[in-house]
Amino acid sequence: MVAHVATVAFLGLEARGVEVQVQIAAGLPKFLVVGLPDKAVAESRERVHAALAAIGLSLPPKRITVNLSPADLPKEGSHYDLPIALGLLAAMGAIDTETLAGYLAVGELGLDGRVAPSPGVLLAAMHASARSLGLICPAAQGPEAAWAGDVEIVPAPDLIALLNHFRGSAVLRPPEPGEAALDGPGPDLAQVKGQETAKRALEIAAAGGHNLLMTGPPGAGKSLLAACLPGILPELTPSEALEVSMIASVAEALSDGRLIRSRPFRAPHHSASMVALVGGGLRVRPGEVSLAHLGVLFLDELPEFQRSALDSLRQPLETGTVSVARANAHVTFPARVQLVAAMNPCDRVAFLLPGVPLDSRRPKPECQQLQGNDLPARLKRRRRELRLFQREAAQRIGVAADTYLNWETGRRTPPTQYQHSIERFLTARVP
Ligand SMILES: Nc1ncnc2c1ncn2[C@@H]1O[C@H](COP(=O)(O)OP(=O)(O)O)[C@@H](O)[C@H]1O
Ligand SMILES: [Mg+2]
Repeated sequence: MVAHVATVAFLGLEARGVEVQVQIAAGLPKFLVVGLPDKAVAESRERVHAALAAIGLSLPPKRITVNLSPADLPKEGSHYDLPIALGLLAAMGAIDTETLAGYLAVGELGLDGRVAPSPGVLLAAMHASARSLGLICPAAQGPEAAWAGDVEIVPAPDLIALLNHFRGSAVLRPPEPGEAALDGPGPDLAQVKGQETAKRALEIAAAGGHNLLMTGPPGAGKSLLAACLPGILPELTPSEALEVSMIASVAEALSDGRLIRSRPFRAPHHSASMVALVGGGLRVRPGEVSLAHLGVLFLDELPEFQRSALDSLRQPLETGTVSVARANAHVTFPARVQLVAAMNPCDRVAFLLPGVPLDSRRPKPECQQLQGNDLPARLKRRRRELRLFQREAAQRIGVAADTYLNWETGRRTPPTQYQHSIERFLTARVP
């Protein structure tokens, strides 16, 4: 006989239906899990074995085959433990198969039969709701699942309680939806003293949804200003809050089933890798840019980030989504963020900021690229705007033609004494 239990596989923010089929057949004792299980799923054999032993049931000495269908979809994660255990219980006749057919199950099992939290329960609940099924989930995540609305939820603390529930001897109470998380916006913009221009820029960025780059010396309040941004953005609408919470649910960042109501603010450290920023890895998890979806992604010390990590942000910033390609599946996470970056003025940039002495060290190439503040290119662009020959441009700045040529080709960096005349040349009105 084959027992069936419905569960899900997560592909980004999409839950795909997966059927766990359990067959107990005559043959040499063996316990097989097939259907592209990853390491965590393959290990669920041991957990299920131990959990059933803990509630006083031993597996029959027969050939047990567990198939996760569709067999070509890769299965990741530990949430297959509970459906596999339920399938076994059904195949052994300990649970009524017809009752089980009305439910979808997710949850990880402990060796003592406890049902432990696993990521993505909110998604599973919404999937169950769409298929008009009930949901069996870990008790700790009942409040999270209850947000999905019209779904019968069975919050299981352990296997025994679940068996008693289905026998009708001790019914598990359906959970109430968790409260909305209280951690409101960060610091208040009113706390920031002075810095009127920066505050105005922040307000304009908030109003128009613009990205923002702040340059300034350490201690100027860049980090403080960035942290103020979520507080002046409009509140999340209920559907946006659900979307943000779903990403947090997949990333296991939802505490006590509390729905997230405030705009996310993520500030990854500059040592963050590409995978940490855009997601991916062995088990595809949303990265920082997805965790900041509909909120603010703050990159402090921008030039210190790895070049590859910054480049990987291009796609999400342009399209608002991140696609991680895997061998057998394509995973897409939403990633509509407002990017706020901060950096200390670096040499070449400093050259064009009034009052900052020119340093003769060569700037980091990243700085040049990020800001487009490359002096040779600017000189050339300017000269073309003014329709001048190099000789004439040199005359305007007051240096020899050779010297100017060296600057424009980037062979030499201009000494400090020419800062003002170059600035004047770069900013003069086009006649
Ligand atoms: N304009 C300001 N108003 C109030 N506090 C400020 C202001 N500028 C800086 N601070 C405080 O000074 C400290 C350093 O600021 P921070 O934002 O970390 O600077 P930065 O990121 O530019 O190095 C923080 O504790 C911040 O609260
Ligand atoms: Mg700072």
